[in-house]
Amino acid sequence: QKEGFRFFMEKEIYEQSEVLSDTLIGRLAEDAILFDELNPSLLEGINEIKLCACGTSYHAALASSYLFERLGKIRTSVEIASELRYKEPLLCTDTLFVVISQSGETADTLETLKMAKAAGLKTLVVCNVDNSSMVREADAAILTRAGIEKGVASTKAFATQMAVLWMFSLYVAQTKDTIDAETLRKQIGLLREVPAVVRVHDDLHERIRRLSKRYLHGHGFFFIGRDIFFPLALEGALKLKEISYLHAEGYPSGEMKHGPIALADPELFTIALMPKNLLYDKTKSNVEELSARDATICAISDVPFEKADDFIPIAAHDHYMLEFFETMVVLQLLSMEIAIRLGNDVDMPRNLAKSVTVE
Ligand code: M6R
Repeated sequence: QKEGFRFFMEKEIYEQSEVLSDTLIGRLAEDAILFDELNPSLLEGINEIKLCACGTSYHAALASSYLFERLGKIRTSVEIASELRYKEPLLCTDTLFVVISQSGETADTLETLKMAKAAGLKTLVVCNVDNSSMVREADAAILTRAGIEKGVASTKAFATQMAVLWMFSLYVAQTKDTIDAETLRKQIGLLREVPAVVRVHDDLHERIRRLSKRYLHGHGFFFIGRDIFFPLALEGALKLKEISYLHAEGYPSGEMKHGPIALADPELFTIALMPKNLLYDKTKSNVEELSARDATICAISDVPFEKADDFIPIAAHDHYMLEFFETMVVLQLLSMEIAIRLGNDVDMPRNLAKSVTVE
C-alpha cells in the first residue's frame, strides 16, 4: 500500500496536505474556531496551560507554547513526560494539563495524565488515535485526524498536532476574549493556507534529493533556529538521527556562541532555518558567525543567502507560521533522502518502536 512511494514515510510526507485539510475541516468558521468536541466549561477557572509529551510530540508542545503565549495570551509551560513524572511537580488546579501523543499509548505521557488528574487538574489530550488509553483517560480530547501513521519517524502526526495546537491557542484567546476580531480572522485565513503550503513540489524534492549526497559524512549536524523555529530545529535533528543514525543536535541560533561554535569546521554541517518573517537579521548574523569559522551551511529560507554552501528555497510567505510548515516539509524530505542514500530502512529504523509503551 505504498502507492508508488519508496517508503511509508515518503507517502506520509506527501499526504500531509490532505490530512491537514481533514484536521481543519469543520473547525474553522470565518471568525471563530470551532471545537464541537469541547465543553465550553473546559477553560473556566484556567489561568495556565501545561503541555506534556515525549519525542516529536514534545517538539509540537514546545513549538505551540510560543503560540499559546503570543496568541492565546495564557501562561504556558512545557514538560517532557519522563521528567515530569519524577520531579515532584507543584500542580495547581487553575492549570489545564494538555498531553500530546500520536498513539495515545506512550507510557510516560499516560502516567503524567493520570498524575495530573489525581491532583485535580482538568485534562485534555491531543491525539491521533480514537479510543486510545489517553483519549479514554482525559477529560477532553481533540483528534488530529492524520490517519494511520506507519513510519516510525513521525511526520504527518506532527503536522496535524501543530495545526490543532495552533487552533487551540486561538480557541483559548477567543474564549477568554483576549484576541480582536481582525487578528482572529487573519489567523484563520492563515490556517486555511496550510494544506497548500505543505504540498510537495517535484522540483523542491528533486533539489533536496540531489544535495543530500553532500551530507552523508562529516562529524555531525547542527539544526539551528530561533523562536518557534528552535523546536522545529529540534524536530529536524530528531528526524535525521532516528533514520540516518548520524549525530544531530537542535540548537537555538543565539546559543551557538555560548559553546557549540567551538565545533565549527567544514565537517560540521549546519542546517539553518532562516524565515524572513521571524528574527531574520538575528539568525542571519548567527549563521554568518558559523560561516566565518568554515562550518558548512545549508540554509532554508525565503530570502537568498549568499554565505550558504547550499540553499533550499521556500516560497515567499508573509507569515512565519506558513514558513514554519513549509520548512517542516523540507526537513522531513532532507532527513529521508540522506537516510535513503545511506541504505537505511527509513520506516523501521534500528532500535526504535512506533509506540513506546514501556518506561
Ligand atoms: O505516540 P507518541 O506521540 O506519544 O510518541 C512519542 C514519541 O515516542 C514519538 O514522537 C517518537 O519520538 C517518534 N519516533 C518521532 O519520530
